[in-house]
Amino acid sequence: MRENPLVLHVLGARPNFVKAAPVVRALGELGMRQGIVHTGQHYDALMSDVFFADLGLPEPVANLGVGSGTHARQTAALLVGMEEVVLAQDPDLVVVYGDVNSTLAAILVCAKLGVRTAHVEAGLRSFDRGMPEEVNRIVTDSLSDLLFATSPDALSHLAAEGVPASKVHLVGNPMIDSLFAALPSLDPTPVVERLGVPGRYAVATLHRPANVDTPEAARELVSAVLEVARQIPIVVPIHPRGRTRLAEAGLVDGPSVRVVDPLGYVDFLSLVRGAALVVTDSGGVQEETTVLGVPCLTVRPNTERPITITHGTNRLVTPALLPAAAGKALADGAATPSGELPPLWDGAAGPRIARVISAWLKGDNLSPAAQGTRSE
Ligand code: UD1
Ligand code: UDP
Repeated sequence: MRENPLVLHVLGARPNFVKAAPVVRALGELGMRQGIVHTGQHYDALMSDVFFADLGLPEPVANLGVGSGTHARQTAALLVGMEEVVLAQDPDLVVVYGDVNSTLAAILVCAKLGVRTAHVEAGLRSFDRGMPEEVNRIVTDSLSDLLFATSPDALSHLAAEGVPASKVHLVGNPMIDSLFAALPSLDPTPVVERLGVPGRYAVATLHRPANVDTPEAARELVSAVLEVARQIPIVVPIHPRGRTRLAEAGLVDGPSVRVVDPLGYVDFLSLVRGAALVVTDSGGVQEETTVLGVPCLTVRPNTERPITITHGTNRLVTPALLPAAAGKALADGAATPSGELPPLWDGAAGPRIARVISAWLKGDNLSPAAQGTRSE
């Protein structure tokens, strides 16, 4: 291993920025030489720049500017761009996050170039290959050299797929590190005043292809959301993916449904912190509501994050059942079945990951226990 190894973090989409910030910060504190490669999968200022500012992420060393496209076009552009940047930067380790197309492309390029990789948020499974993310998860985990898991269920999924336990570390959830770091700044009042939202409100975020890509799905979802809005005013920071389709289905800005631009990280979590209810199909938002203790209804048939149901405030619903479930959640408030947060969701995942990476790059044969992590 070189004297002064280089770690590259590959980030492309909104949730990647949130997961990477604590890892970058913790590696920085260990004096690691590192850089961020932004693939440009998300490029609007409100989907990207605002996160770099809110999370204190350093400027990327490269931006591939791949933009949007079909899966094939976007992934192809990502592969070409990633290969060039990995060859030019010559990293000792490439760290990828989550399950987006940028994650998949980066891991594939590194595997072919013989560059070692780490995957943060390994082992989550929805067991639904109709989700593009599930394909990305399986391929990414099968090619990674180091796998960082956020919940114990991930360990059994990886074991079942034949991933050696020695590669896997249960480290907690860096997305929750970011949430804890932001907590002192999370004040709903200014956002609520700016958006003109009343005291008691719900928040909805909807962007899964299965929910927003066809007119039929969008109509069913919107009619359920409008029914919820008859019970409580609802704010919808709209993801660009669903903007047109959901508007065509009748989700338009008005007094009981506020359809607004995507919010920056601190504004969004402030709004969620003050909400009586969240309706979502986001992965990250299921986890954040669990920690903030806000009832969450996830409009999906499955989740790769079941720990947010067993240890959190999350429930899965169909669009048809959403209005009744919202009524019940608003009456009952948040109740976590186990009464405790998922293990190691304590704000220290970034430092755990950084310690493992640093020791691993030095070739230290530390046991996971010695590194402050566990694996099975
Ligand atoms: C991607 C991820 C998804 C993740 C989500 C987080 C994949 C396959 N999907 O979905 O897992 O939950 O990010 O938000 O990687 N667009 C803009 N501006 C932007 C970015 C996108 O207008 O800055 C629009 C474009 O019309 C684009 C569409 O959103 O075609 C979808 O973008 P894309 O990155 O392909 O997928 P997401 O739906 O954002
Ligand atoms: N988020 C945000 N502004 C918004 C909506 C979401 O800052 O308007 C944050 C949210 O707090 C979470 C992350 O974006 O940290 C999740 O991104 P998204 O839902 O797009 O992706 P997913 O988690 O579904 O992959």
